[in-house]
Amino acid sequence: MENSEDRTRLSATMVIFGGTGDLTHRKLMPALYNLVYNGLLPDAFAIVPVGRREKTAEQYREEVYLSLQKYSRNKIDQTLWAKLRELIHYFRFDFTDLAGYGSLKVFLNQIGERYQTGGNKVFYLAVSPEDFPTIVSGIRAGNLIGNSHAWSRLVIEKPFGKDLITARSLNEKLLEVFAEEEIFRIDHYLGKEMIQNIMVLRFCNSVFESLWSNKYIDNIQISLTEKYGVESRGGYYETSGAMRDMVQNHVIQILSLVAMDPPVNVGTGSIRTERLKVIQALEEMTHEMLRDNVVFGQ
Ligand SMILES: NC(=O)c1ccc[n+]([C@@H]2O[C@H](COP(=O)([O-])OP(=O)(O)OC[C@H]3O[C@@H](n4cnc5c(N)ncnc54)[C@H](OP(=O)(O)O)[C@@H]3O)[C@@H](O)[C@H]2O)c1
Repeated sequence: MENSEDRTRLSATMVIFGGTGDLTHRKLMPALYNLVYNGLLPDAFAIVPVGRREKTAEQYREEVYLSLQKYSRNKIDQTLWAKLRELIHYFRFDFTDLAGYGSLKVFLNQIGERYQTGGNKVFYLAVSPEDFPTIVSGIRAGNLIGNSHAWSRLVIEKPFGKDLITARSLNEKLLEVFAEEEIFRIDHYLGKEMIQNIMVLRFCNSVFESLWSNKYIDNIQISLTEKYGVESRGGYYETSGAMRDMVQNHVIQILSLVAMDPPVNVGTGSIRTERLKVIQALEEMTHEMLRDNVVFGQ
């Protein structure tokens, strides 16, 4: 964030559906704390985690504090925590109850006014993918978006459907409510420093830049090594599988960064164009190709 104008432009209320869940406690809250830590949170900002569990705003904040101590990579500074704590307002609500979105709207308006967020909203869906369409329909039914003076964003994590058909169907449902530019299908691997450095390493280093081509590189292997075993995730792997968990998202993202041509500029659109070309150039998987090139393990 470069200047005070940017900070104003990014003013928003962040609504986290799944606010009592693992992703919120393990990743989102520590990430928000890190923004405070690094002085990067917009000046006008509020956080509204949504969950079904009965708890007071204070109880919720205490739980976040415990999670930060457990998962934050930065030490918890009491002054910074006090700053973040004051922005968090738990809202209890069952998101399958369409009528409840009206109350959520009233609550968000109050918070928006109190924190001067200009009505801007980020909806982060930290819930099971089957719930994405329900929540997006609720957001529309409750008129939570559509204020022409404010912007909205929808953020979702993988998995995006479970195959091409379900991914397309989900896309259609999201696009009924949000415009494409408002939807952020994020892949947390792209936030890893090592992966962010791939582009810098390739295009800003004159040694690599001139040698990084099929003339000089025979093959590239992308290895994903896990620190932990399957452990208690047996059920997850039985239904989702490593292919869906890691390959179609994380590995393809890394592959496109490794193999892309230089973008015409560093704008999002230009980078996307070059990465898309790599994905379009991938050879189709045939049975023969799989037979000759895939090694299964357990
Ligand atoms: N955990 C991770 O590190 C991670 C990493 C990458 C992607 N993801 C993805 O992130 C998503 C969430 O994962 P998670 O591990 O955080 O799951 P989780 O711990 O099971 O959390 C699910 C959340 O959804 C809420 N919820 C479910 N039904 C609800 C309803 N009807 N009304 C209101 N709230 C409801 C739960 O609230 P209550 O408990 O209060 O009912 C809980 O906060 C999944 O799509 C997962 O694949 C997770």
